[in-house]
Amino acid sequence: MTLPKVRKAVFPAAGLGTRFLPATKAQPKEMLPVVDKPLIQYGVEEARHSGIHNIIIVTGRGKASIEDHFDVSFELEHLLESKNRADMLSMVRAISDIVDVSYVRQKEALGLGHAVHRAKELVGHEPFAVVLSDDIIASQTPCIRQLLDVHEFYGASVLALMEVPKDQISAYGVVDAELVADNGRENRLFRIRNLVEKPKAADAPSNLAIIGRYVLTPEIFAAVEAIQPGSGGEIQLTDALKYMLRNRPIYGLKFEGKRFDAGDKLGFLKATVEFALNRHDLGKDFREYLRTICAQS
Ligand code: G1P
Repeated sequence: MTLPKVRKAVFPAAGLGTRFLPATKAQPKEMLPVVDKPLIQYGVEEARHSGIHNIIIVTGRGKASIEDHFDVSFELEHLLESKNRADMLSMVRAISDIVDVSYVRQKEALGLGHAVHRAKELVGHEPFAVVLSDDIIASQTPCIRQLLDVHEFYGASVLALMEVPKDQISAYGVVDAELVADNGRENRLFRIRNLVEKPKAADAPSNLAIIGRYVLTPEIFAAVEAIQPGSGGEIQLTDALKYMLRNRPIYGLKFEGKRFDAGDKLGFLKATVEFALNRHDLGKDFREYLRTICAQS
């Protein structure tokens, strides 16, 4: 049986962004720029570079600017054309050209599992990726691509995993997992035995946390329908995965790359600094500036 290709990526983006108030009072968190690119665009580009061209964004109230961002901006294109700014014009056009974006509303923020379930009709009965745009992952091979490689081999759902310190583990979905003998991946591939959403540090089954990249088989939708609200009273994707584990294997991959939690203020600042330092147009001057202020403090 040939495995259906993963063509679609779901981006839950209906959250209220309370960790970033007041910036997110009237602006979606997903549109906060790291250097000059909105958070969500990093994820969309990662999906595209992984070979996924169909993007499904689960939005809510006050998220219209996300739709505008991925749409054509005639006025802006016209202005840039008249000013002969070919470089900027192609950058702006690329955003609307790169992908095919569909939207579905999540009317109430009832949890990540619920958000993903909102995409059920648009996804259909095929495997798909989920990207949480709070997590920006800088890597040579895009993180989603790394997960897809595992999925294409096993035909199963695959989660991105990362070791996190014990005092931070309760902010994550945490897995109990056994290593899969796979020499190609140097002890980074696991078969999941159990999952817990946001456990207390003392109850965490390991230090392996789920990071916001998933490749899921479509049985996840029935699993979301079967579960009850969990941590925080929300319909959790982690709980649906645990339910699905009863009759489907799930794998986890400690991905290669550096992850920034851009949904957190300090993580956002770290991402901004590192991405700016790596920019050919800004890096040199910015490094110089950082040196000066470090010398002063
Ligand atoms: C979500 C998931 C959690 C995962 C985390 C990764 O939590 O529910 O399992 O570990 O993303 O960023 P959130 O950060 O939305 O509370």
